[in-house]
Amino acid sequence: MKETAAVILAAGKGTRMKSALPKILHPLCGKPLISYSLDVVRELEIKKVFIVVNPDEIPKETFGEEVILVEQKEQLGTGHALQQVLPHLDAFEGDILVLSGDMPLLTAVDLNALIKKHRAKNSSLTVLSAVVPWETDFGRIIRNFSGSLLKIVEVRDASPEELKIQELNLGSYCFEAEFLRQYLPLISSNNAQNEFYLTEVIQLATQDGIAVEVLPCQDPNSSRGVNSRAELARVSEILRSKICNHWMKEGVSLVDPLTTYIDATVLIGKDTTILPGALLEGTTRIGERCTIGPSSRIKDSFIGDDVAIQYSVLLETNVGDSASIGPFAYLRPGTVLGKKVRVGDFVEIKSSRIDDGSKVPHLSYIGDAVIGKNVNIGAGTITCNYDGVRKNQTEIADDASIGSNTNLVAPVRVGRGSKTGAGSVILADVPDYSLAAGVPAKIKKQLKPETKD
Ligand code: UD1
Ligand code: CA
Repeated sequence: MKETAAVILAAGKGTRMKSALPKILHPLCGKPLISYSLDVVRELEIKKVFIVVNPDEIPKETFGEEVILVEQKEQLGTGHALQQVLPHLDAFEGDILVLSGDMPLLTAVDLNALIKKHRAKNSSLTVLSAVVPWETDFGRIIRNFSGSLLKIVEVRDASPEELKIQELNLGSYCFEAEFLRQYLPLISSNNAQNEFYLTEVIQLATQDGIAVEVLPCQDPNSSRGVNSRAELARVSEILRSKICNHWMKEGVSLVDPLTTYIDATVLIGKDTTILPGALLEGTTRIGERCTIGPSSRIKDSFIGDDVAIQYSVLLETNVGDSASIGPFAYLRPGTVLGKKVRVGDFVEIKSSRIDDGSKVPHLSYIGDAVIGKNVNIGAGTITCNYDGVRKNQTEIADDASIGSNTNLVAPVRVGRGSKTGAGSVILADVPDYSLAAGVPAKIKKQLKPETKD
């Protein structure tokens, strides 16, 4: 079996994005755009993978060692980009799969079919195409009267007749290495954009009577690319719907897939229900039988089984089984909640551990705290964790009960089984099994009832 190498072209300026961020690094469902091309190449088990990048935009460490980075210092077109890889392919005898780094929806099925047809026809060059009903600035596939591929014409070089053609070039090709070595150096920049078009090799080949093949791709949705932000939004809409369908097949209920945003990197257990307006991002893992949403954002967090989360934001948070969060909780990085913890409305927690069975039901700020098991935190309690210089720790031992509106001035410890009175300001440690209370308001004077006209 012939070896296959892959080349991903990713050095283009991405001018149409109008962005300071390189196009291939724009996030798409939680991953950079370029990673989709890399994933598909990995799925095809191609070992030799080149990525052509602009060294001013992409630092070397962006990619792992399994890819060979090739620099294109000046962006002179797709043909010029591929020319930069030629010196690496001097002795290579297999096929070369070329992909554009901005076509994230192409699947391994599409590309496998391309390679298969290329081999079956013993072709020098096979092009992947798609017939689509929508308007696009993709290159048009021009066939001759007998249906063979003649050339590819870019929109800016196309005649009005050619523009009507709905069969498009998807920028994915399979080349015989020897053909590329022979023809790629021959392309010119004689076109509307004064660029070295990779597509010109097709015309050069057909002029020399070399047979080239086209494979129309089955799913036109695979053929969406990202040149502009509008196209990025369209592509993410398609990808999102694929991700939602995947999770529904895996036994997750999505009440409204259209308003459910699940990154490609997220994992969800079965019999979990996702309500409208949920954003599940990054490395988030959600267990089984949870109810998530409505309207919650969960990023880089671990959620156990049987957890309920509503109208809340969780960032880098770890939630134990059977916990319940919200509505309107804000759990910031470093929050770790044990089993059956209850975090209620208008509660903010950061860098804190709250152990099994404890409750922070209403209106609290808990920062830099370690809270034991079965602790109850009364409404309005806050940890005064910041003294203007340092963040200090609050410790509340098992079975303690903190009265409403307690201020815990850290560093401070409330002992096991202890209680604080409503409104108390705790400045010093409270020993185990003690009650700390005081400073009640006194009646200062008698007020006359106000008279209203
Ligand atoms: C290209 C094709 C077009 C096809 C479309 C499909 C050419 C001339 N045109 O057009 O026929 O319909 O893709 O997606 O090939 N790149 C470089 N270096 C460069 C220029 C581009 O690496 O100097 C990379 C880009 O990063 C991108 C890919 O090549 O990933 C395609 O370039 P782009 O400028 O987006 O080409 P299109 O105009 O989309
Ligand atoms: Ca493109």
